[in-house]
Amino acid sequence: MNENSLQDKKVVLGVTGSIAAYKAADLVRRLREKGADVRVVMTKAACEFITPLTLQTLSGHPVAIELLDADQEAAMGHIKLARWADWILIAPATADTIARLASGRADDLLTALCSASESPLAIAPAMNNKMWQNESTQNNIRQLRSQSAQILGPASGDQACGEQGEGRLLEPNDIVSALALLVVPARLQGKHVVITAGPTYEPIDPVRFIGNRSSGKMGFAMAVAAAEAGAGVTLISGPVHLSTPTNVNRVDVETAQQMHDEVIKHIDNCDLFIACAAVADFRPQQLELNKIKKMEKDQLPLILTPTLDIVSAVTGGDKQPFVVGFAAETTSVETYAKDKLKRKKLDMIAANQVGEGRGFAVDENELQVFWAEGSKMFPMAPKNQLARDLMTLIIERYNAKDTT
Ligand code: C5P
Repeated sequence: MNENSLQDKKVVLGVTGSIAAYKAADLVRRLREKGADVRVVMTKAACEFITPLTLQTLSGHPVAIELLDADQEAAMGHIKLARWADWILIAPATADTIARLASGRADDLLTALCSASESPLAIAPAMNNKMWQNESTQNNIRQLRSQSAQILGPASGDQACGEQGEGRLLEPNDIVSALALLVVPARLQGKHVVITAGPTYEPIDPVRFIGNRSSGKMGFAMAVAAAEAGAGVTLISGPVHLSTPTNVNRVDVETAQQMHDEVIKHIDNCDLFIACAAVADFRPQQLELNKIKKMEKDQLPLILTPTLDIVSAVTGGDKQPFVVGFAAETTSVETYAKDKLKRKKLDMIAANQVGEGRGFAVDENELQVFWAEGSKMFPMAPKNQLARDLMTLIIERYNAKDTT
């Protein structure tokens, strides 16, 4: 399945000034063999090790090198390239390029492109083993990882300098395999994915509400992953502090009722419904029209009434998209998740443990995914990569269901 994930993907390959730059020629060929459309960006130092003409010939497109060259910028400038890329892969990446990326520099074409791009970034380091172990390099790698860059390798073994150790560029085949595992395959073209995200706010009076700690990050990351798969995406979001992902149609709501109504409005032409939202299970039965004054009462009993279960409304309706639910649990994750899978008639459920800094409002998460015939565990990872991995599994299960 992941074997074909690079098919039709637009990859910017950044090549920097390492002796391993000669392997970039093979890497371009391997990427293209997997169906990727490749544009090469070289640093000036890289041109000392391999000629732009070689990479131009192999990629079939002019190589970009200069940030301040009017002709090159007119062809496909760094902003255009930044938007064009589905993925940016830097291989080989030197210690210096890694340091400049980690500190947010944008003083050459490659770093300017990276800082201008929302596309995911994969970095395959190549350097002397002492440079790799250097504390500054390791700090820079940690920094880039915390910004969600994926680090591929390095490998161990003989080094060009005659030493032995960790720091070799991964072999081109291994880079391509590692990248293919990260990429969501473009297999949802022409499909419509509806996703709910974030919390809902249930008003008590004009200024107060009952809400929860959901940040919306996982739902937004799922929307990005669905768009990466080529789907048309409608993201129905409760109140969150997140910007709208590119190529995603966002609908803002506040209450469970409003979220329900928007989902029903969009469900007719929906192929996959992914319910990430932490919808309130109860709302105040009565909405006070004026702000409740504290001196009027020394107790404030609130009567709550159940909200509509949105995901059950979808699975119980006439139109049956492929439905994925989420379950945030504080205990007995597997038992509760499997129960919800059946009770809510879901095709899949992604469950995680929440509480004490886990699950909600954090950047990393882990998931246990269950469906009728199987399960899969996704270990702790940044939510955007976790969303890509989960979307790849959803596509696999969706296609399996479609063909049975
Ligand atoms: O029952 P629980 O809230 O744990 O179920 C979680 C799943 O159900 C999530 O996918 C959530 O988005 C969905 N849900 C919903 N409407 C509700 C409550 C939960 O769609 N009112």
